[in-house]
Amino acid sequence: MEKEFSMLNGKEIIVGITGGIAAYKTAELVRELTKRGANVHVVMTKNAMEFVTPLTFQTISGNPVVHQMFELFYGSKIGHIALSDIADQMVIVPATANIIGKIANGIADDFLTTMVMATTVPILFVPSMNTKMWESKAVQCNIGKLKENGFEIMEPGTGDLACGTHGKGRLPTIGEILEKMEDIFTKKDLKGERILVTAGPTMEFIDPVRCITNRSSGKMGYAIAKLARRRGAEVILITGKTYLEPPRNDIRIIEITTAYEMREAVLEHYKDCSVIIKTAAVADFRCRAENCQKIKKQEDQDILLLELEKNPDIIGELGRIKEDRILVGFAAETEKLVDHAYDKLKRKKLDLIIANDVSKPGIGFGSDKNEVTIIDKTGYARHVPEKSKDEIADVILDAVKRLLKKKKKER
Ligand code: PMT
Repeated sequence: MEKEFSMLNGKEIIVGITGGIAAYKTAELVRELTKRGANVHVVMTKNAMEFVTPLTFQTISGNPVVHQMFELFYGSKIGHIALSDIADQMVIVPATANIIGKIANGIADDFLTTMVMATTVPILFVPSMNTKMWESKAVQCNIGKLKENGFEIMEPGTGDLACGTHGKGRLPTIGEILEKMEDIFTKKDLKGERILVTAGPTMEFIDPVRCITNRSSGKMGYAIAKLARRRGAEVILITGKTYLEPPRNDIRIIEITTAYEMREAVLEHYKDCSVIIKTAAVADFRCRAENCQKIKKQEDQDILLLELEKNPDIIGELGRIKEDRILVGFAAETEKLVDHAYDKLKRKKLDLIIANDVSKPGIGFGSDKNEVTIIDKTGYARHVPEKSKDEIADVILDAVKRLLKKKKKER
């Protein structure tokens, strides 16, 4: 199985499961962690076993599940000490009011709570419970104590709860938990930067039901936005219509439809940013006529002529007004990749251009992978072979980071 690009790859992760109805969702988390290359050790409390069985987790993780206080490990080591010694990160999911209260107040009366006390690695709590319990003074006071003591706490989500009510208390999605775990391992080398990313396609209307658009799925831009935020930057994502989930819930997302709307949004926000990365595939032309009604087909009509006019060249405009901001463009090419892309870089006054061959199957538009050439102002071109879009995003951000460092030195 191909391992996903992840900071969790090769890490020893302890997953603590406590007795809440959301315990069944932890099976998917363990599966996703192993897919990302982590070696997962599951620890269950007695109450957790009322909801789910150790067999499920042993099968998914490939490791024995610990659920008894006095278990020996690796021959002779006491279990909770042995596991604490090898762990890189620990996550407690779901974290009930009971486990939160116990750990906040220094109680260590089972394997999980003694392990928490015996370890120095980052520990993430993912609470899930009834809204009134979550909002109770006792739980909020204990959450405050955990935060003060350096534990990481995720806010529960809002929605329908197992107890039949609606409110705050849902387990965050598995994707959100994984992203938080990645976050904990990621060096915040872009902290202090504000990065504007554009992604996805624009749509130009022919009439109220038809439009001119392109095959951009938004995946490349969303990957850049996610990785930039993971590395500590504040991120504004200006996106055309896509079918993707928001990359993270701490990214400001501005949705647009047309090239004109994208231009307006970009011009409103670029000034507050140190870096602008224009991944979006923007329509170069739009319909000249505004057809307010659906265009009707005539009985004897074989041809329909559309008159198109030029859309604003957003990146060209930014190149003229960007001052010392770093401006990164993408070039979707089908031939003479480097020559055409470098020509765009010079004409539009970019700092970097990322060229991708959109005629090559398996990369570029819509796919989960890309292969790019990163070209700088001197014409130096670095080829990055086919990788996941997350990995490509990370390499692009490395190049941006180098430019930021260089600019800071020159100032
Ligand atoms: O979204 P995915 O499915 O993941 O696919 C990713 C991608 C193939 C869309 C992406 O990797 C990519 O190549 N994006 C740029 C596509 C494009 O429009 O290329 P271009 O060569 O036509 O434009 C060059 C640059 O000018 C781009 O940064 C573009 O955002 C910008 N532009 C273009 C036209 C215009 N009117 N205004 C612009 O700002």
